[in-house]
Amino acid sequence: MSADHDRTFVRTFLGVLGVLVGITFLIIIAAVMITGGDGELSDVRKERIAERTQPDFQVVTDADNLQQVAASPASGSGGDGGDESASLEDTYKQVCAACHGTGMAGAPKTGEAGPWQARLDDKGRDTLYDHAINGFKGMPAKGGKADLSDDRVKELVDYILEESGV
Ligand code: HEC
Repeated sequence: MSADHDRTFVRTFLGVLGVLVGITFLIIIAAVMITGGDGELSDVRKERIAERTQPDFQVVTDADNLQQVAASPASGSGGDGGDESASLEDTYKQVCAACHGTGMAGAPKTGEAGPWQARLDDKGRDTLYDHAINGFKGMPAKGGKADLSDDRVKELVDYILEESGV
């Protein structure tokens, strides 16, 4: 009985092993087919990779070049809320409004004085600043926009309070 049992086990075991080895080879063959197999990237692919991995910004170390870079209008940061020259209202809309405009995730809504007044009375303005800058429960630090300056976030808190009539 026991020997029989062992034999059945070994047979099943080898069967399963065989299937797994088979699958491994299939995967290897599929991988070779997908990648072209020679391990070399085609020129088109290299170009695409170069395109996708272009840095957003470059550090300029050439003194002659500095003037030119400074003189050209800021590029790249426009429209995403990180641009400090954007109006407060625009930055608020781009960064804070997603939650505070709708009350999403329990965020106090801009325009509703009650909840804001309660928070202000409870904690004081400095704590509200601190929580807006460093995050607090569902409130992500700087609204998730890490490149806003601390002062900018404070201005945004003031803006929200003002818009809420607090
Ligand atoms: C992802 C959603 C989200 C975004 C974006 C967001 N907030 Fe909030 N915020 C919340 C939530 C949720 C709370 C409530 C947290 C709590 O008290 O549980 C909150 C609370 C606050 C508070 C009150 C903190 C306190 O201690 O009571 C301030 C101030 C605030 N947010 C400012 C901002 C500013 C300024 C921005 C834009 C820079 C912003 N928030 C962007 C979700 C968000």
